Amino acid sequence: MATIITGQVLSFVRSPIDATPEDATKIHEALLIEDGIIAAIGPLADLRAQAPDAQIADHSGQLILAGFVDAHVHYPQTAIIASWGKRLIDWLNTYTFPEEMRFADPAYAAQIAARYLDLTTQAGTTTVCSYCTIHPESVDAFFAEAQTRGQRVIAGKTCMDRNAPEGLRDTAQTAHDQSAALIARWQGVDRLGYAITPRFSPTSTPEQLEALGALWSEHPDCLMQTHLSEQTDEIAWVKELYPDARDYLDTYEAHGLLGENGLFGHAIHLEPREIDRLHETGAAVVHCPTSNTFIGSGLFDMGGLVAKGIRVGLATDTGGGSSFSMLRTMASAYEVGQLNGTVLHPSQLLWLATAGSAQALKLGGRIGNLAPGMEADVIAIDLASTPAIAQRSARADDLWEAVFPTIMMGDDRAIAQVWIAGQPVFDAKTG
Ligand code: GUN
Ligand code: ZN
Repeated sequence: MATIITGQVLSFVRSPIDATPEDATKIHEALLIEDGIIAAIGPLADLRAQAPDAQIADHSGQLILAGFVDAHVHYPQTAIIASWGKRLIDWLNTYTFPEEMRFADPAYAAQIAARYLDLTTQAGTTTVCSYCTIHPESVDAFFAEAQTRGQRVIAGKTCMDRNAPEGLRDTAQTAHDQSAALIARWQGVDRLGYAITPRFSPTSTPEQLEALGALWSEHPDCLMQTHLSEQTDEIAWVKELYPDARDYLDTYEAHGLLGENGLFGHAIHLEPREIDRLHETGAAVVHCPTSNTFIGSGLFDMGGLVAKGIRVGLATDTGGGSSFSMLRTMASAYEVGQLNGTVLHPSQLLWLATAGSAQALKLGGRIGNLAPGMEADVIAIDLASTPAIAQRSARADDLWEAVFPTIMMGDDRAIAQVWIAGQPVFDAKTG
């Protein structure tokens, strides 16, 4: 079945990080989807002529965008989002680890996986890269739920063999073997991809990092995701645990865990050598602004890192982050940029939440943009979803001024419709 979506169809022709908004973007009248793929984009009359039987989804006036791509989340933390009063290490011990213990129960894992994907779909997010728990069942539950929904997701078993409670620890060997079995079961199946996932250096022994580095060298197509330099206390602890390491990044690098398919969450308090090595190896970093302010981690240096040529993705970091919404996350990225000397344009924020995150996940050729041949994960955004937003966007002189109030004040109420692989999966009118 073919579908034509009409509206203000936003497509990126290059990155607005390195080009003006005018040079980086194009607005089209309509989009044609056939067999889950974007078949064409352009004037409505042309697309009607190309596909006379197509169903028309009329979103005139709304922004039609690629579905949001959330490059760093913890789906198991769904039920403990917005937990009060702790910084990183205490937050992990008080709220996160007790909740992650519950994922030994496959039924609970399945329930939260479905809840998480419902909440994020309604917020316009069509792809996520998620940490699971140490339980392989938590990975199976997440992939199975995403597979049923036809969603492109990346996920991995979170490996920890120290500084975590009994019941939430594996070993170097079991982390390797269980991750290998999960790769064999899920990597490249339908739209699913596997990320080798050491949680972070404090909860892995050097032996575990070594075992996962060896696994990555056997499966270089997999992503490798972990955390890097989120809080100063954490960095001091890493120095104690790894006295021979040159810096935090070196704890990964020394064990084969740095490369172009590497994804480093947070990356706030970096040293010059770390920045150089991230750039030289082509690794990506992921900015998680609502988390960084909520847990009190610090201000990510967007301007400095993109100027170095480092790939940057954007993410909620649910549930250290305080929202499931990439709109809320863009607002937070804007605010962190303001505090840190980088003013992000609406086109740059939208790019980070779609194409930028997709590129960080090495999926830039498939998702994160609207262009012929791309997978048809698409959202329609209402640019007047609340009275406060409507009265501001009514004053707008151009598209960017019309979009910015939704970026700053919008939430899931702005998401009018969502398509995954061309199938309508959410419609605000019908729920
Ligand atoms: N560092 C290690 N684990 C976590 C986690 O679950 N959330 C955040 N924000 N940081 C981490
Ligand atoms: Zn995280």
